[in-house]
Amino acid sequence: MIEFQNKLKKNSQEIDFFLDSYLPSGNGLNFKLFEAMRYSSISGGKKIRAYLVLETGRFLSAINNKNLSRSKYDELIAVGSAIEAIHSYSLIHDDLPAMDNSPTRRGKASNHIKFDYHTAILAGDGLLSWAFQIIGDSKFISNAEKRSEICFVIAKAIGPNGMVGGQQADMDFTENNSINLDQIEWIQNHKTGALISCCSHVASILLNATDDQKNNLINYANHVGLAFQIADDLLDADGNEISMGKPIKQDSKNETPNFVTILGKENASKRALEESFKAINLIQKFKQESENLVSLAKYTVNRNK
Ligand code: IPE
Ligand code: IPE
Ligand code: MG
Ligand code: MG
Ligand code: MG
Repeated sequence: MIEFQNKLKKNSQEIDFFLDSYLPSGNGLNFKLFEAMRYSSISGGKKIRAYLVLETGRFLSAINNKNLSRSKYDELIAVGSAIEAIHSYSLIHDDLPAMDNSPTRRGKASNHIKFDYHTAILAGDGLLSWAFQIIGDSKFISNAEKRSEICFVIAKAIGPNGMVGGQQADMDFTENNSINLDQIEWIQNHKTGALISCCSHVASILLNATDDQKNNLINYANHVGLAFQIADDLLDADGNEISMGKPIKQDSKNETPNFVTILGKENASKRALEESFKAINLIQKFKQESENLVSLAKYTVNRNK
């Protein structure tokens, strides 16, 4: 696990380098907006979504007996960074008083506390649009068809039928007794799973995966995504605020139903493990090459942040 965490750390550094190099900065009238966008996206978070993009790419190269070229690697880093910018946008908005009202994130003040409410809203909007600017830029992804397909896949995953739709339902339910397990699964799959599964999808596009390979990897990521959100629900109940860098017991404070409030801790953690095993089973047949994706599925349910 230590070795895996070092790999995750190295990946974070590369993504931070990309974000630091290409996110806007400067002294114009929009200086504060740039500051706020950079504050919530660079040097923070585990960057597991970008890791999944990169490792899906590496895995596909290995099973197709190809070397991952420098240019393909750079494309994966650009797409992974754009997805992390989108993820950061979703967290800035998620922390706002109108949503979860969380004062801390990634070990420091949330964006709206550090800056102000309008800046937090606009920094989120800025990161979201900037991400699509990167994906659409031929400087980062050379093939026009791939640029357009990746834009489509990401937009679909994070829009009203994906992440944003999940966030809406998450906010609308405030009582445990009005929601059943299928509905909670739908919400977690949309608010969190959609973006995670899109990571394997976009890497499959970049690496010209066969339909079979692509479907297998998306399926793997679907299970990882669900396991990841159940683990987040468990950490919200029982985690350590310092290591997580965000407040715990937010879901009970906000009366947000989740896997733990519906199933109880023991069954929720059993379900998270089941999802992680299902993910592992889908790719383990590739033995050596699948090592990092297997470790990611294990880490997902065995983390303290
Ligand atoms: C937190 O995501 C929000 C969820 C979707 C569960 P992460 O746990 O990936 O947060 P960071 O990026 O590491 O801060
Ligand atoms: C956030 O879920 C999901 C998105 C931002 C899309 P949570 O509200 O559970 O995330 P945390 O616990 O605040 O990180
Ligand atoms: Mg939330
Ligand atoms: Mg939240
Ligand atoms: Mg949570």
